[in-house]
Amino acid sequence: MIDDPNFETRILNSPGPISEAFMDDRSFLSVIIGPVGSAKTMSALRKLRQVGMRQGFRLDAKGRKRRKARCGVIRETYPSIEKNTLPSWFRIHPESDGVFSRKAPYSHRLNLILDEDEYGQPSDICELEMEFRAIGDQGVEAACRGWEVNAVMIDEADLQPPDLLSFLSGRVGRFSDLDPSLVVDPQIILSLNAPYMDNWVYKLAVEKELGELLSPELAEALGDRKLIETFIQPGGRSPGAENLHNLPKGYYNIQAALNKHRPSYVARMVDNKFVPQQFGQPVNPGFSYEQHVRPLEWDRSRPLILSCDQGLYAAATAMQHTPMAQIRTLAEAVIMHEDGKTLMKIGPTAFGQMCRQMLNDHFPSLKPDMLRVVADPAAFAAADRADNEHDWVRAFSKSLGAKVRPAKTNRQTPRLEAIHRAQAEIDGYAVDPRCRHLIRGHLGGYRYANATNGDGEARGRLEIANTIYTHICDAEQYGALEAEGMMDFVLGRTDRRGASRARARERVDHGQGYFSGRQP
Ligand SMILES: Nc1ncnc2c1ncn2[C@@H]1O[C@H](COP(=O)(O)OP(=O)(O)O)[C@@H](O)[C@H]1O
Ligand SMILES: [Mg+2]
Repeated sequence: MIDDPNFETRILNSPGPISEAFMDDRSFLSVIIGPVGSAKTMSALRKLRQVGMRQGFRLDAKGRKRRKARCGVIRETYPSIEKNTLPSWFRIHPESDGVFSRKAPYSHRLNLILDEDEYGQPSDICELEMEFRAIGDQGVEAACRGWEVNAVMIDEADLQPPDLLSFLSGRVGRFSDLDPSLVVDPQIILSLNAPYMDNWVYKLAVEKELGELLSPELAEALGDRKLIETFIQPGGRSPGAENLHNLPKGYYNIQAALNKHRPSYVARMVDNKFVPQQFGQPVNPGFSYEQHVRPLEWDRSRPLILSCDQGLYAAATAMQHTPMAQIRTLAEAVIMHEDGKTLMKIGPTAFGQMCRQMLNDHFPSLKPDMLRVVADPAAFAAADRADNEHDWVRAFSKSLGAKVRPAKTNRQTPRLEAIHRAQAEIDGYAVDPRCRHLIRGHLGGYRYANATNGDGEARGRLEIANTIYTHICDAEQYGALEAEGMMDFVLGRTDRRGASRARARERVDHGQGYFSGRQP
Protein backbone atom coordinates (compact mmCIF):
# COMPACT_ATOMS: atom_id res chain seq x y z
CA MET A 1 0.00 0.00 0.00
CA ILE A 2 0.98 3.60 -0.44
CA ASP A 3 2.04 4.79 2.98
CA ASP A 4 3.59 8.00 1.86
CA PRO A 5 1.43 10.58 0.19
CA ASN A 6 4.18 12.89 -0.99
CA PHE A 7 3.84 13.43 -4.71
CA GLU A 8 7.09 15.15 -5.39
CA THR A 9 10.11 16.10 -3.42
CA ARG A 10 10.19 19.11 -1.10
CA ILE A 11 10.53 22.36 -2.95
CA LEU A 12 14.21 22.73 -3.66
CA ASN A 13 15.59 25.53 -5.79
CA SER A 14 18.29 25.21 -8.40
CA PRO A 15 21.81 25.61 -6.99
CA GLY A 16 23.10 26.65 -10.42
CA PRO A 17 23.77 25.46 -13.98
CA ILE A 18 26.70 23.14 -13.22
CA SER A 19 24.75 21.37 -10.48
CA GLU A 20 21.80 21.06 -12.85
CA ALA A 21 23.92 19.58 -15.64
CA PHE A 22 25.42 17.17 -13.12
CA MET A 23 21.96 16.06 -11.98
CA ASP A 24 20.87 15.44 -15.58
CA ASP A 25 24.01 13.54 -16.56
CA ARG A 26 23.62 9.86 -17.48
CA SER A 27 27.29 8.82 -17.52
CA PHE A 28 28.23 5.68 -15.66
CA LEU A 29 30.56 7.69 -13.44
CA SER A 30 29.22 11.12 -12.73
CA VAL A 31 31.40 13.42 -10.67
CA ILE A 32 30.80 16.80 -9.06
CA ILE A 33 33.68 18.85 -7.67
CA GLY A 34 33.03 22.11 -5.86
CA PRO A 35 33.69 24.29 -2.86
CA VAL A 36 32.25 23.59 0.56
CA GLY A 37 28.55 24.39 0.74
CA SER A 38 27.95 24.39 -3.02
CA ALA A 39 25.14 21.81 -2.75
CA LYS A 40 27.26 18.88 -3.92
CA THR A 41 25.94 16.38 -1.40
CA MET A 42 22.39 17.54 -1.82
CA SER A 43 22.54 17.49 -5.63
CA ALA A 44 24.19 14.07 -5.62
CA LEU A 45 21.44 12.70 -3.38
CA ARG A 46 18.72 14.19 -5.59
CA LYS A 47 20.43 12.63 -8.58
CA LEU A 48 20.54 9.26 -6.86
CA ARG A 49 16.84 9.50 -6.18
CA GLN A 50 16.19 10.36 -9.81
CA VAL A 51 18.05 7.24 -10.94
CA GLY A 52 15.71 5.30 -8.69
CA MET A 53 12.64 6.86 -10.27
CA ARG A 54 13.90 6.16 -13.79
CA GLN A 55 13.88 2.39 -13.34
CA GLY A 56 11.58 0.26 -15.47
CA PHE A 57 8.13 -0.76 -14.25
CA ARG A 58 5.71 -3.66 -14.13
CA LEU A 59 1.96 -3.19 -14.18
CA ASP A 60 0.28 -4.47 -11.02
CA ALA A 61 -3.17 -6.13 -10.76
CA LYS A 62 -4.83 -2.71 -10.76
CA GLY A 63 -2.95 -1.60 -13.86
CA ARG A 64 -0.65 0.76 -11.94
CA LYS A 65 3.00 1.21 -12.89
CA ARG A 66 5.25 -0.25 -10.19
CA ARG A 67 8.95 0.53 -10.08
CA LYS A 68 11.50 -0.82 -7.61
CA ALA A 69 14.86 0.68 -6.87
CA ARG A 70 17.61 0.45 -4.30
CA CYS A 71 20.20 3.22 -4.13
CA GLY A 72 23.21 3.45 -1.87
CA VAL A 73 25.34 6.07 -0.22
CA ILE A 74 28.76 5.16 1.10
CA ARG A 75 31.44 6.96 3.05
CA GLU A 76 33.95 6.35 5.83
CA THR A 77 31.96 6.08 9.09
CA TYR A 78 28.44 6.16 10.47
CA PRO A 79 29.17 9.31 12.50
CA SER A 80 30.17 11.11 9.29
CA ILE A 81 27.03 9.82 7.55
CA GLU A 82 25.00 10.99 10.52
CA LYS A 83 26.65 14.38 10.74
CA ASN A 84 27.23 15.31 7.11
CA THR A 85 25.13 13.24 4.73
CA LEU A 86 21.82 12.57 6.46
CA PRO A 87 20.99 16.22 7.20
CA SER A 88 21.07 16.86 3.44
CA TRP A 89 19.01 13.75 2.74
CA PHE A 90 16.40 14.68 5.31
CA ARG A 91 15.90 18.00 3.53
CA ILE A 92 14.74 15.93 0.57
CA HIS A 93 12.80 13.34 2.57
CA PRO A 94 12.42 13.94 6.31
CA GLU A 95 12.88 10.97 8.58
CA SER A 96 9.10 10.92 9.06
CA ASP A 97 8.52 10.09 5.37
CA GLY A 98 8.25 6.33 4.86
CA VAL A 99 10.28 4.12 7.18
CA PHE A 100 13.75 5.09 8.30
CA SER A 101 15.91 2.57 10.15
CA ARG A 102 19.07 3.47 12.06
CA LYS A 103 20.26 -0.13 12.24
CA ALA A 104 23.45 -0.41 10.17
CA PRO A 105 23.37 -0.16 7.27
CA TYR A 106 20.86 2.65 7.70
CA SER A 107 17.94 2.45 5.33
CA HIS A 108 15.07 4.65 4.26
CA ARG A 109 12.10 3.00 2.51
CA LEU A 110 9.86 5.31 0.54
CA ASN A 111 6.95 4.99 -1.81
CA LEU A 112 7.22 7.79 -4.31
CA ILE A 113 4.18 8.64 -6.36
CA LEU A 114 5.32 9.65 -9.79
CA ASP A 115 1.91 10.08 -11.41
CA GLU A 116 -1.82 10.01 -10.66
CA ASP A 117 -4.83 9.02 -12.68
CA GLU A 118 -7.81 11.24 -13.47
CA TYR A 119 -9.35 10.44 -10.07
CA GLY A 120 -6.27 11.52 -8.20
CA GLN A 121 -5.25 7.96 -7.44
CA PRO A 122 -1.57 6.96 -7.77
CA SER A 123 -0.90 5.38 -11.16
CA ASP A 124 2.89 5.30 -11.15
CA ILE A 125 4.70 4.33 -7.98
CA CYS A 126 8.36 3.87 -7.21
CA GLU A 127 9.36 1.83 -4.19
CA LEU A 128 12.69 3.37 -3.37
CA GLU A 129 15.02 2.03 -0.75
CA MET A 130 17.95 4.25 0.15
CA GLU A 131 20.80 2.57 1.98
CA PHE A 132 23.52 4.45 3.86
CA ARG A 133 26.64 2.38 4.45
CA ALA A 134 29.90 3.14 6.20
CA ILE A 135 33.16 1.47 5.29
CA GLY A 136 34.21 1.59 8.94
CA ASP A 137 36.98 -0.75 10.02
CA GLN A 138 35.65 -3.76 8.14
CA GLY A 139 37.35 -2.56 4.94
CA VAL A 140 36.02 -1.78 1.50
CA GLU A 141 35.54 -5.29 0.25
CA ALA A 142 33.50 -6.39 3.23
CA ALA A 143 31.50 -3.16 3.17
CA CYS A 144 30.48 -3.70 -0.46
CA ARG A 145 29.98 -7.46 -0.33
CA GLY A 146 26.59 -8.58 -1.50
CA TRP A 147 25.40 -5.02 -2.12
CA GLU A 148 22.88 -4.79 -4.93
CA VAL A 149 22.03 -1.27 -5.98
CA ASN A 150 20.88 0.65 -9.03
CA ALA A 151 23.22 3.47 -8.22
CA VAL A 152 25.58 4.45 -5.48
CA MET A 153 26.85 7.81 -4.30
CA ILE A 154 30.29 8.19 -2.76
CA ASP A 155 30.20 11.30 -0.61
CA GLU A 156 33.53 13.09 -0.06
CA ALA A 157 34.98 10.62 -2.53
CA ASP A 158 38.58 11.82 -2.26
CA LEU A 159 38.59 10.80 1.41
CA GLN A 160 37.55 7.24 0.61
CA PRO A 161 39.97 4.47 -0.36
CA PRO A 162 40.70 4.22 -4.10
CA ASP A 163 39.78 0.54 -4.34
CA LEU A 164 36.20 1.41 -3.39
CA LEU A 165 35.46 2.23 -7.00
CA SER A 166 36.55 -1.10 -8.42
CA PHE A 167 34.42 -2.95 -5.89
CA LEU A 168 31.42 -0.78 -6.59
CA SER A 169 31.72 -0.93 -10.36
CA GLY A 170 30.97 -4.64 -10.12
CA ARG A 171 28.00 -4.04 -7.86
CA VAL A 172 25.79 -1.41 -9.45
CA GLY A 173 23.01 -2.58 -11.72
CA ARG A 174 23.30 -6.28 -10.76
CA PHE A 175 20.43 -7.86 -8.92
CA SER A 176 19.53 -11.31 -7.78
CA ASP A 177 15.98 -10.29 -6.85
CA LEU A 178 15.13 -7.83 -9.64
CA ASP A 179 14.43 -8.37 -13.31
CA PRO A 180 17.58 -7.23 -15.17
CA SER A 181 15.48 -5.92 -18.07
CA LEU A 182 13.98 -3.32 -15.72
CA VAL A 183 17.35 -1.93 -14.69
CA VAL A 184 18.00 1.48 -16.30
CA ASP A 185 21.33 3.34 -16.41
CA PRO A 186 23.19 2.12 -13.33
CA GLN A 187 25.46 4.84 -12.01
CA ILE A 188 28.25 5.64 -9.62
CA ILE A 189 28.07 9.21 -8.39
CA LEU A 190 31.01 10.98 -6.75
CA SER A 191 30.83 14.19 -4.80
CA LEU A 192 33.88 15.92 -3.40
CA ASN A 193 35.84 19.11 -2.81
CA ALA A 194 38.76 19.85 -5.13
CA PRO A 195 41.10 16.95 -4.45
CA TYR A 196 44.84 17.23 -4.03
CA MET A 197 46.58 16.55 -7.31
CA ASP A 198 48.05 13.36 -5.88
CA ASN A 199 44.63 12.02 -4.95
CA TRP A 200 43.12 9.06 -6.83
CA VAL A 201 40.03 11.05 -7.82
CA TYR A 202 42.18 13.69 -9.52
CA LYS A 203 43.68 11.02 -11.78
CA LEU A 204 40.32 9.47 -12.46
CA ALA A 205 37.96 12.40 -12.79
CA VAL A 206 40.21 15.23 -13.89
CA GLU A 207 42.90 13.48 -15.93
CA LYS A 208 40.45 10.77 -16.99
CA GLU A 209 42.98 8.03 -16.44
CA LEU A 210 40.60 5.13 -16.16
CA GLY A 211 43.05 2.28 -15.78
CA GLU A 212 41.41 -1.12 -15.58
CA LEU A 213 38.00 0.30 -14.95
CA LEU A 214 37.00 0.27 -18.58
CA SER A 215 36.58 -3.47 -19.15
CA PRO A 216 35.08 -4.72 -22.43
CA GLU A 217 31.95 -5.82 -20.54
CA LEU A 218 31.51 -2.38 -19.07
CA ALA A 219 32.06 -0.71 -22.44
CA GLU A 220 29.34 -2.89 -23.90
CA ALA A 221 26.96 -2.29 -21.02
CA LEU A 222 27.36 1.46 -21.43
CA GLY A 223 25.55 1.60 -24.75
CA ASP A 224 25.08 5.26 -25.70
CA ARG A 225 26.26 6.52 -22.35
CA LYS A 226 29.63 8.02 -21.51
CA LEU A 227 31.87 6.26 -19.07
CA ILE A 228 32.69 9.36 -17.07
CA GLU A 229 31.73 13.00 -16.85
CA THR A 230 33.12 15.51 -14.38
CA PHE A 231 31.36 18.70 -13.37
CA ILE A 232 33.58 21.36 -11.84
CA GLN A 233 31.72 24.14 -10.09
CA PRO A 234 33.08 27.69 -9.95
CA GLY A 235 34.93 28.69 -6.79
CA GLY A 236 32.92 30.17 -3.96
CA ARG A 237 34.33 33.65 -4.62
CA SER A 238 34.05 33.41 -8.43
CA PRO A 239 31.33 35.18 -10.41
CA GLY A 240 29.37 32.01 -11.18
CA ALA A 241 29.51 30.58 -7.65
CA GLU A 242 26.62 28.16 -7.10
CA ASN A 243 24.16 27.75 -4.22
CA LEU A 244 25.00 31.18 -2.73
CA HIS A 245 21.27 31.87 -2.31
CA ASN A 246 21.03 28.92 0.10
CA LEU A 247 24.02 29.97 2.18
CA PRO A 248 24.44 32.67 4.82
CA LYS A 249 25.62 36.03 3.48
CA GLY A 250 29.39 36.34 3.11
CA TYR A 251 29.82 32.60 3.64
CA TYR A 252 32.94 32.21 1.49
CA ASN A 253 34.62 35.44 2.53
CA ILE A 254 34.25 34.37 6.13
CA GLN A 255 35.63 30.90 5.38
CA ALA A 256 38.59 32.46 3.57
CA ALA A 257 39.29 34.93 6.37
CA LEU A 258 39.11 32.26 9.06
CA ASN A 259 41.50 30.04 7.17
CA LYS A 260 43.93 32.64 5.92
CA HIS A 261 46.84 30.78 7.51
CA ARG A 262 46.00 27.68 5.45
CA PRO A 263 46.29 28.74 1.82
CA SER A 264 45.87 25.24 0.46
CA TYR A 265 42.67 24.79 2.43
CA VAL A 266 41.26 28.04 1.09
CA ALA A 267 42.34 27.12 -2.43
CA ARG A 268 40.53 23.79 -2.28
CA MET A 269 37.53 24.40 -0.06
CA VAL A 270 36.67 27.97 -1.00
CA ASP A 271 38.10 28.56 -4.47
CA ASN A 272 37.73 24.99 -5.75
CA LYS A 273 41.31 24.80 -7.02
CA PHE A 274 43.41 21.70 -7.35
CA VAL A 275 46.66 22.02 -5.44
CA PRO A 276 49.68 19.84 -4.83
CA GLN A 277 50.01 18.36 -1.40
CA GLN A 278 53.14 20.34 -0.55
CA PHE A 279 52.14 23.89 -1.00
CA GLY A 280 54.73 26.49 -1.92
CA GLN A 281 53.22 29.46 -3.74
CA PRO A 282 52.53 28.54 -7.35
CA VAL A 283 54.60 30.41 -9.93
CA ASN A 284 51.55 30.86 -12.15
CA PRO A 285 48.81 31.83 -9.69
CA GLY A 286 46.56 33.09 -12.48
CA PHE A 287 46.03 29.58 -13.79
CA SER A 288 42.62 28.11 -13.24
CA TYR A 289 41.68 24.61 -14.29
CA GLU A 290 38.11 25.59 -14.92
CA GLN A 291 39.02 28.54 -17.13
CA HIS A 292 42.07 27.30 -18.93
CA VAL A 293 41.79 23.57 -19.54
CA ARG A 294 39.68 22.40 -22.45
CA PRO A 295 40.08 20.28 -25.57
CA LEU A 296 41.71 22.42 -28.25
CA GLU A 297 41.75 22.19 -31.99
CA TRP A 298 44.87 22.42 -34.04
CA ASP A 299 44.62 25.22 -36.61
CA ARG A 300 46.39 23.96 -39.71
CA SER A 301 46.52 27.41 -41.18
CA ARG A 302 48.79 28.72 -38.45
CA PRO A 303 52.33 27.77 -37.40
CA LEU A 304 52.92 25.21 -34.69
CA ILE A 305 55.65 26.05 -32.23
CA LEU A 306 57.59 23.20 -30.67
CA SER A 307 59.56 24.68 -27.80
CA CYS A 308 61.97 22.74 -25.64
CA ASP A 309 63.93 22.92 -22.50
CA GLN A 310 67.00 20.88 -23.29
CA GLY A 311 69.14 18.80 -20.98
CA LEU A 312 69.01 15.50 -19.17
CA TYR A 313 65.34 15.95 -18.39
CA ALA A 314 64.31 17.54 -21.66
CA ALA A 315 60.68 18.53 -22.08
CA ALA A 316 58.75 20.22 -24.87
CA THR A 317 55.37 21.70 -25.62
CA ALA A 318 53.56 22.17 -28.91
CA MET A 319 51.69 25.45 -29.06
CA GLN A 320 49.89 27.77 -31.39
CA HIS A 321 48.95 31.37 -31.03
CA THR A 322 45.69 32.73 -32.31
CA PRO A 323 45.50 35.82 -34.52
CA MET A 324 45.04 37.74 -31.27
CA ALA A 325 48.29 36.24 -29.91
CA GLN A 326 46.39 34.13 -27.42
CA ILE A 327 48.32 31.06 -26.35
CA ARG A 328 46.97 27.59 -27.07
CA THR A 329 49.14 24.79 -25.73
CA LEU A 330 48.12 21.66 -27.57
CA ALA A 331 50.49 18.88 -26.56
CA GLU A 332 53.50 18.03 -24.45
CA ALA A 333 56.49 15.72 -24.67
CA VAL A 334 57.82 14.59 -21.35
CA ILE A 335 58.99 11.26 -20.07
CA MET A 336 58.27 10.05 -16.56
CA HIS A 337 59.10 6.92 -14.63
CA GLU A 338 56.23 4.52 -14.11
CA ASP A 339 55.66 5.86 -10.61
CA GLY A 340 54.51 9.12 -12.19
CA LYS A 341 56.57 11.01 -9.65
CA THR A 342 60.03 11.28 -11.17
CA LEU A 343 61.32 12.21 -14.59
CA MET A 344 63.35 9.85 -16.71
CA LYS A 345 66.68 10.90 -18.15
CA ILE A 346 66.66 11.14 -21.90
CA GLY A 347 69.34 11.88 -24.50
CA PRO A 348 68.90 14.35 -27.38
CA THR A 349 68.42 11.69 -30.06
CA ALA A 350 65.77 9.81 -28.12
CA PHE A 351 64.10 13.09 -27.23
CA GLY A 352 64.06 14.12 -30.90
CA GLN A 353 62.32 10.86 -31.75
CA MET A 354 59.88 11.35 -28.94
CA CYS A 355 58.96 14.81 -30.17
CA ARG A 356 58.58 13.54 -33.70
CA GLN A 357 56.25 10.86 -32.42
CA MET A 358 54.24 13.44 -30.51
CA LEU A 359 53.94 15.57 -33.65
CA ASN A 360 52.84 12.54 -35.66
CA ASP A 361 50.29 11.57 -33.06
CA HIS A 362 48.62 14.92 -32.67
CA PHE A 363 49.46 16.85 -35.82
CA PRO A 364 49.31 14.33 -38.66
CA SER A 365 50.69 15.54 -41.98
CA LEU A 366 51.94 18.77 -40.48
CA LYS A 367 53.68 20.73 -43.23
CA PRO A 368 57.37 21.30 -42.46
CA ASP A 369 57.05 25.03 -43.15
CA MET A 370 54.32 25.20 -40.53
CA LEU A 371 56.62 23.94 -37.78
CA ARG A 372 58.91 26.25 -35.81
CA VAL A 373 61.22 24.68 -33.26
CA VAL A 374 62.85 26.72 -30.52
CA ALA A 375 65.05 25.90 -27.55
CA ASP A 376 66.71 27.66 -24.63
CA PRO A 377 69.15 30.15 -26.18
CA ALA A 378 71.80 29.02 -23.70
CA ALA A 379 72.09 25.91 -25.81
CA PHE A 380 73.40 27.97 -28.70
CA ALA A 381 76.33 29.41 -26.79
CA ALA A 382 79.77 28.96 -28.29
CA ALA A 383 80.38 25.40 -29.35
CA ASP A 384 83.55 25.18 -27.26
CA ARG A 385 81.62 25.31 -24.01
CA ALA A 386 82.45 22.50 -21.65
CA ASP A 387 78.89 21.21 -21.26
CA ASN A 388 78.45 20.61 -24.98
CA GLU A 389 74.95 21.97 -25.07
CA HIS A 390 75.43 22.87 -28.68
CA ASP A 391 75.95 19.20 -29.39
CA TRP A 392 72.64 18.56 -27.71
CA VAL A 393 70.84 20.89 -30.08
CA ARG A 394 72.60 19.41 -33.07
CA ALA A 395 71.75 15.81 -32.14
CA PHE A 396 68.18 16.75 -31.25
CA SER A 397 67.69 18.68 -34.46
CA LYS A 398 69.02 15.79 -36.51
CA SER A 399 66.79 13.20 -34.90
CA LEU A 400 63.75 15.46 -35.00
CA GLY A 401 64.44 16.34 -38.62
CA ALA A 402 63.89 20.06 -38.20
CA LYS A 403 65.95 23.17 -37.69
CA VAL A 404 66.11 24.37 -34.08
CA ARG A 405 66.32 28.10 -33.33
CA PRO A 406 67.17 29.91 -30.13
CA ALA A 407 64.18 31.23 -28.18
CA LYS A 408 63.89 34.98 -27.80
CA THR A 409 65.50 35.11 -24.37
CA ASN A 410 66.06 32.93 -21.35
CA ARG A 411 65.80 35.74 -18.83
CA GLN A 412 63.31 34.66 -16.21
CA THR A 413 61.17 37.77 -15.88
CA PRO A 414 60.02 38.10 -19.49
CA ARG A 415 59.45 34.36 -19.66
CA LEU A 416 57.23 34.33 -16.59
CA GLU A 417 55.46 37.48 -17.71
CA ALA A 418 54.59 35.98 -21.05
CA ILE A 419 52.63 33.25 -19.28
CA HIS A 420 51.22 35.46 -16.52
CA ARG A 421 49.88 37.97 -19.01
CA ALA A 422 48.29 35.29 -21.17
CA GLN A 423 46.65 33.61 -18.18
CA ALA A 424 45.35 36.90 -16.85
CA GLU A 425 43.68 37.97 -20.08
CA ILE A 426 40.20 36.80 -20.95
CA ASP A 427 40.76 33.77 -23.17
CA GLY A 428 44.44 34.65 -23.37
CA TYR A 429 45.49 31.15 -22.52
CA ALA A 430 44.21 27.62 -22.93
CA VAL A 431 45.74 24.18 -22.61
CA ASP A 432 44.52 20.82 -23.86
CA PRO A 433 43.76 18.28 -21.09
CA ARG A 434 46.24 15.88 -22.66
CA CYS A 435 49.07 18.10 -21.33
CA ARG A 436 48.80 16.43 -17.95
CA HIS A 437 52.25 17.16 -16.67
CA LEU A 438 52.11 20.81 -17.68
CA ILE A 439 48.70 21.23 -16.08
CA ARG A 440 49.97 19.83 -12.81
CA GLY A 441 52.83 22.29 -13.10
CA HIS A 442 50.46 25.22 -13.55
CA LEU A 443 48.27 24.04 -10.72
CA GLY A 444 51.19 24.61 -8.40
CA GLY A 445 53.63 21.77 -8.98
CA TYR A 446 55.71 24.53 -10.56
CA ARG A 447 56.19 26.63 -7.45
CA TYR A 448 58.47 28.85 -5.52
CA ALA A 449 60.76 27.38 -2.92
CA ASN A 450 59.35 27.80 0.57
CA ALA A 451 59.18 31.49 1.17
CA THR A 452 60.54 31.74 4.66
CA ASN A 453 63.66 30.18 6.05
CA GLY A 454 63.60 28.70 9.54
CA ASP A 455 63.95 31.91 11.55
CA GLY A 456 61.15 33.61 9.68
CA GLU A 457 63.57 36.06 8.07
CA ALA A 458 62.04 38.01 5.23
CA ARG A 459 62.89 36.49 1.90
CA GLY A 460 65.11 38.34 -0.47
CA ARG A 461 64.33 37.05 -3.91
CA LEU A 462 61.76 34.40 -4.70
CA GLU A 463 63.38 31.35 -6.08
CA ILE A 464 61.60 28.77 -8.13
CA ALA A 465 61.85 25.34 -6.55
CA ASN A 466 63.60 22.74 -8.62
CA THR A 467 60.82 20.23 -9.23
CA ILE A 468 59.82 17.79 -11.92
CA TYR A 469 57.63 20.56 -13.34
CA THR A 470 60.24 23.24 -14.02
CA HIS A 471 61.33 21.72 -17.35
CA ILE A 472 57.92 21.54 -18.97
CA CYS A 473 56.97 25.00 -17.70
CA ASP A 474 60.24 26.46 -18.99
CA ALA A 475 59.62 24.82 -22.34
CA GLU A 476 56.19 26.38 -22.60
CA GLN A 477 57.58 29.81 -21.73
CA TYR A 478 59.96 29.68 -24.70
CA GLY A 479 57.01 28.99 -26.93
CA ALA A 480 54.99 31.79 -25.35
CA LEU A 481 57.77 34.28 -26.05
CA GLU A 482 57.71 33.17 -29.64
CA ALA A 483 54.01 33.87 -29.94
CA GLU A 484 54.48 37.25 -28.31
CA GLY A 485 57.32 38.04 -30.65
CA MET A 486 55.07 37.40 -33.60
CA MET A 487 52.34 39.56 -32.18
CA ASP A 488 54.78 42.42 -31.66
CA PHE A 489 55.76 42.04 -35.24
CA VAL A 490 52.18 41.92 -36.44
CA LEU A 491 51.39 45.11 -34.58
CA GLY A 492 54.54 46.68 -35.94
CA ARG A 493 56.03 47.12 -32.47
CA THR A 494 59.29 45.36 -33.22
CA ASP A 495 60.80 43.13 -35.81
CA ARG A 496 61.13 39.54 -34.96
CA ARG A 497 64.49 39.07 -33.29
CA GLY A 498 65.84 42.04 -35.15
CA ALA A 499 65.34 40.36 -38.49
CA SER A 500 64.48 42.73 -41.29
CA ARG A 501 60.77 43.19 -41.63
CA ALA A 502 60.78 42.13 -45.23
CA ARG A 503 62.42 38.84 -44.40
CA ALA A 504 60.24 38.15 -41.43
CA ARG A 505 57.16 38.85 -43.48
CA GLU A 506 58.12 36.14 -45.90
CA ARG A 507 58.80 33.60 -43.24
CA VAL A 508 55.86 34.09 -40.96
CA ASP A 509 52.34 33.09 -41.75
CA HIS A 510 50.03 35.41 -39.93
CA GLY A 511 46.86 33.75 -41.12
CA GLN A 512 43.74 35.47 -42.31
CA GLY A 513 42.60 37.12 -39.10
CA TYR A 514 41.90 40.77 -38.41
CA PHE A 515 45.39 41.29 -37.02
CA SER A 516 47.07 39.21 -39.68
CA GLY A 517 48.62 42.27 -41.19
CA ARG A 518 47.25 41.33 -44.60
CA GLN A 519 45.63 43.93 -46.72
CA PRO A 520 41.93 43.33 -47.22
N1 LIG B 1 18.48 22.74 -4.01
C1 LIG B 1 18.58 23.27 -2.79
N2 LIG B 1 17.59 24.03 -2.28
C2 LIG B 1 17.71 24.57 -1.06
N3 LIG B 1 18.77 24.41 -0.24
C3 LIG B 1 19.79 23.68 -0.69
C4 LIG B 1 19.75 23.05 -1.99
N4 LIG B 1 20.89 22.38 -2.16
C5 LIG B 1 21.62 22.55 -1.04
N5 LIG B 1 20.97 23.33 -0.15
C6 LIG B 1 21.49 23.74 1.16
O1 LIG B 1 22.79 24.29 1.01
C7 LIG B 1 23.66 23.86 2.05
C8 LIG B 1 24.87 23.16 1.48
O2 LIG B 1 24.47 21.97 0.79
P1 LIG B 1 25.36 20.65 0.80
O3 LIG B 1 24.75 19.71 -0.17
O4 LIG B 1 25.59 20.14 2.17
O5 LIG B 1 26.71 21.25 0.22
P2 LIG B 1 28.14 20.55 -0.01
O6 LIG B 1 27.97 19.07 0.03
O7 LIG B 1 28.54 21.06 -1.34
O8 LIG B 1 29.04 21.07 1.06
C9 LIG B 1 22.83 22.96 2.94
O9 LIG B 1 22.36 23.73 4.01
C10 LIG B 1 21.70 22.51 2.05
O10 LIG B 1 20.56 22.22 2.80
MG1 LIG C 1 28.87 17.65 1.28
